[in-house]
Amino acid sequence: MTYETVSPADIPGSPLANALKQPLMLGVFLNLQDIRLSTFPTTSTWTFDYNAEVVRKADDLGFELAFSRTQWLPKGGYDGEASLDAFVALGAMAAITKNILLISTIHVLYGPIHPLHLAKYGATLDHISKGRWGINIVTGHRAVEHEMFGWDRIEHDTRYELASELFDVVQRLWTDTENFSFEGKSPWKVHNGYITPKPLFGRPVLVNATGSEAGIAFAAKYSDIVFITSPGGAHIDSALETLPTHIANIKAQAARVGRTVRTVINPVIVSRDTERETIEYANAISRNAIKGAFAGYDSDAHAWRGRGDASHKQGLGLGGNIEIIGTPEQVVEQLVALKKTGIDGVQLGFYDFLPELGYFGDRILPLLKQAGLRL
Ligand SMILES: Cc1cc2nc3c(=O)[nH]c(=O)nc-3n(C[C@H](O)[C@H](O)[C@H](O)COP(=O)(O)O)c2cc1C
Repeated sequence: MTYETVSPADIPGSPLANALKQPLMLGVFLNLQDIRLSTFPTTSTWTFDYNAEVVRKADDLGFELAFSRTQWLPKGGYDGEASLDAFVALGAMAAITKNILLISTIHVLYGPIHPLHLAKYGATLDHISKGRWGINIVTGHRAVEHEMFGWDRIEHDTRYELASELFDVVQRLWTDTENFSFEGKSPWKVHNGYITPKPLFGRPVLVNATGSEAGIAFAAKYSDIVFITSPGGAHIDSALETLPTHIANIKAQAARVGRTVRTVINPVIVSRDTERETIEYANAISRNAIKGAFAGYDSDAHAWRGRGDASHKQGLGLGGNIEIIGTPEQVVEQLVALKKTGIDGVQLGFYDFLPELGYFGDRILPLLKQAGLRL
């Protein structure tokens, strides 16, 4: 049975409730990993200092969300082999930001991590950030990662069952005012578990990143936000075609259990003042593409299957889950169209992150306000 908590989305004054007032939430999808898509020059880098500057800039521009991916790859898995942990790095960003929500991607089954650890670490970050911290729950889709932790990959749907058990207990620790004990299918147990202080707004923000029915069923019960992909692949036309049904299905599943979930997606924005400059820039990134460093690892994820679907238009390989390419006006047109699919937010990525986030703030954000997508 699901242990139910009140979502911070339903608590007036919580950072999440405030973020949800925006017609289209804006986020940054930080790259804390040394992964290069192209040899075309860029200032982007995995370092904490670079990403700290990005997140501060996004916070100043009024963005609501910051996310990053996390992976556990063996030697050779990243170009330069450096990859910061999103739990620790996004948590640390609480101290250097004011309003932006900081969502740490955590592999909640590896270890196994104990619910008391997650609950205590989460409550601590919740108090440091004043309710701005949350978890992007991922369960691990690559066999090589599970093997690194010393076991065979756990079967796809079983992962969500174990994550459910874990979050029933974590949520209970965040809210229950008495000690309690628990023993279930998971390898951990709790005896007289209790944590205090409790989170400031019911519990930290919960997100999960998924494309499968089991993952969506999990999101319907536990998440405030679902981080989704385009079922049709990276081209904006394919995304606009396939997202409405996908998003409607997610929202309907949540409604069936009496909950509301929001959806976000991560486009890359490639924009210059004129169409010619934009196309030249996009082509330059694409022409100098480096073959994906971790493309060879086995994955059982459903979320990215659209990328292999030849019946849909695919992108240029510029990064992001979908590609938004054009002049500032054309970018806004595409974001307006995306909003019409039912999406609640976008977590933006840029090839050359810091200068292009600045360009977005100067040239695109004012147009988004004019278009009614931003308050
Ligand atoms: C937008 C998005 C971002 C994700 N980010 C990560 C990540 O950073 N690390 C990771 O291990 N898995 C990540 N995942 C994978 C999911 O957590 C999940 O393991 C995968 O999608 C397989 O589950 P599914 O079949 O439910 O989609 C991401 C998935 C999506 C859709």
